[in-house]
Amino acid sequence: MTTSTNPDEVIVTENLTKVYPGDILAVDGLDLSVHRGEIFGLLGPNGAGKSTTAGMLTTRVLPTSGRAIVGGVDVVAHPAQAKRLIGVVPQSNTLDRALTVYENLYFHGRFFGMSAKQSKAESLRLLEQFRLSERASAPVLALSGGMAQRLMVARAVMHRPSILFLDEPTAGLDPQSRIALWEILSELHDEGQTILLTTHYMEEADQLCHRLAIIDHGRMLALDTPERLKASVGADTIVTISTDTPDREAFATRLRSSIPGATGAVPIETGVRLEVQGSHGVLPAVVAVADEAGVAISDLRLDEPSLETVFINLTGKDLRE
Ligand SMILES: Nc1ncnc2c1ncn2[C@@H]1O[C@H](COP(=O)(O)OP(=O)(O)OP(=O)(O)O)[C@@H](O)[C@H]1O
Ligand SMILES: [Mg+2]
Repeated sequence: MTTSTNPDEVIVTENLTKVYPGDILAVDGLDLSVHRGEIFGLLGPNGAGKSTTAGMLTTRVLPTSGRAIVGGVDVVAHPAQAKRLIGVVPQSNTLDRALTVYENLYFHGRFFGMSAKQSKAESLRLLEQFRLSERASAPVLALSGGMAQRLMVARAVMHRPSILFLDEPTAGLDPQSRIALWEILSELHDEGQTILLTTHYMEEADQLCHRLAIIDHGRMLALDTPERLKASVGADTIVTISTDTPDREAFATRLRSSIPGATGAVPIETGVRLEVQGSHGVLPAVVAVADEAGVAISDLRLDEPSLETVFINLTGKDLRE
């Protein structure tokens, strides 16, 4: 029944591919390996193939080709067995609206074979852990977005899955609810839970994930820790120069060749983005080059490289919509 893999590799995919009807190549030959106990992220823009990947790993979407092994189980060959090993928080709210907060947990436990007594005890414990006890007898419709999301996570971990999947867990949540959910996921991680999440928020990927795969158009562009991905930029400072000069291409070329430590410069819609190793004295140098070139600068900003920078360097486009 099980396929022998390294027990510390909780998810392995080989050339995993999904083509939807109409020749839509949603996931294109993905090779992934997720380790036990880590929080792994799939980071990518809208339509990158994140949900399709999560769908294949959780038996909701049938792969067109390739393999996916989850908890040692081939998800295509043995979907029922795989389902018992995974907990899923999908992108949309799938709570049962006819039931109360408590009942959503209780019946889930019963469905997974718990006795009435066991399911009750576990539901109450989870409500406490996920700070939902006060809402136990409320209808789920009365929950805020953040509370509903916490309840979905509580339900997903109730049967103690080997791997917890979350598809865009904080999309649409206010900043406070987002942080509350990050705390909960960190607590689950501290208890040893392996987590795979998808996100298009680079801050989320950066703060929460131990390793992440950057995907776009169904292809994996990079896989590493956030720190190493950011270091791969090869610069420690990103200078964003706002100007409405018509020839930004020429200005970028000039900056690149004149600024000490410049490792790259690209024209962007609002001006030029310059990458520099060693930021000391960079602002006066940029101003001097602009003066010489007769370019008027309306704003100058210094940032550390972010996953956004990594994404732009890999794809030539912005991760934000
Ligand atoms: N059931 C489907 N039938 C046909 N095409 C689909 C289907 N589901 C997704 N797609 C297409 O597959 C591609 C990947 O979609 P997917 O939903 O996996 O991306 P995503 O990264 O989750 O995007 P989002 O950030 O919008 O959730 C997109 O081009 C999408 O339009
Ligand atoms: Mg999606």
